[in-house]
Amino acid sequence: MPAPEELVALTGPPAVLIYDDWYPAIRAGELSPKKMATAMLCGIPLVLGRKSTGEIWAMRDLCPHRGIPLSAGWYDGQRVTCKYHGWQFEPCSGECQEIPSLTSHDHLEPTKIYAGALPCVERDGYAWVYVPSPGAGRVKDIAALPAPPRLPTFSDNFRNAHLTADLPCNVDHGIIGLMDPAHGPFVHQAWWWRSAASIHEKTKKFEPIPQGFRMSGHTPSSNSAPYKLMGISGEQVTTTIDFVLPNRRYETIRAGEKWFSSLTTVTPVTPQTCRIDVIAAWNVFRAVPFVTAIAKYFGARFIAQDQQTMVEQARGLRFNPSLMLIDDADQPAKWYFALKQARLEGRDDHPLSGPVELHWRS
Ligand code: FES
Ligand SMILES: [Fe+2]
Repeated sequence: MPAPEELVALTGPPAVLIYDDWYPAIRAGELSPKKMATAMLCGIPLVLGRKSTGEIWAMRDLCPHRGIPLSAGWYDGQRVTCKYHGWQFEPCSGECQEIPSLTSHDHLEPTKIYAGALPCVERDGYAWVYVPSPGAGRVKDIAALPAPPRLPTFSDNFRNAHLTADLPCNVDHGIIGLMDPAHGPFVHQAWWWRSAASIHEKTKKFEPIPQGFRMSGHTPSSNSAPYKLMGISGEQVTTTIDFVLPNRRYETIRAGEKWFSSLTTVTPVTPQTCRIDVIAAWNVFRAVPFVTAIAKYFGARFIAQDQQTMVEQARGLRFNPSLMLIDDADQPAKWYFALKQARLEGRDDHPLSGPVELHWRS
């Protein structure tokens, strides 16, 4: 698999990005008071860290003085010091607190200068960063922002896992690949999943939700082998999959007390590349040892199949071919583009006026 930086060279056209929202930038476990970390998000180079008090922070990785990356400097768990002229910044606010070259003859007040701090919160093992529209300036009131997303959980005790994969395509291709039902039997062929020969017609119910759509389904009293393995039998299984702008897919499976929950996001790393992150939690098989390792193994194989396919797709997309979306298998992708366009234009109309059924073979 190519490294993330090599992926940029492989890619096709950029996507238009949605700003003024939260995106996962990096695993929160990588942030420490001893060392700064870097990440790319929406084409913005970020420097991130954790204060000795535990709070995490993110700033544009550019000194406001001459633009050298702040990550080239020093961090003591409280202040970031620029490597070039030693300006010191409080990283949560970005406020400049010290300009070593100033003398009593200067009237410049350092605290009037800010590095580009971005709102940053820790949730579900990730540092979520709020990315304002280009040129919007500093976000002063974090409390006024919409809440960052959270993985839904339904009991106090559960296990969890996460997976991540860089994709060489723009965020739109990553998202429509994620919601595409027709690739399953081809891309995810495996003895433990299914084969192309198992394709059959399906009917799925969709309904509009704010900024997205929901696919819902009930399996009355499922006695199928996978559900029995999960320790579920004779109970109604309810599955809900929500897609919500800008990039979130929530899947919830519930049967009585048992539940599985995942939040998958496709995040623009640059306008041409993206990254898929899956966070999952469950209270099924809690008593079985090694289940997290097994779940991660199969989950990682599954994501690697999508990743491999998108690496191959990127080879085609470099030539900017004209593409098509068909009914009904590509209908969720059409809704995604319509929802995104409405959001970019500041309209609040919705492509679904009510519940609909879609039919496809997969
Ligand atoms: S470039 Fe950072 S202090 Fe001058
Ligand atoms: Fe897939």
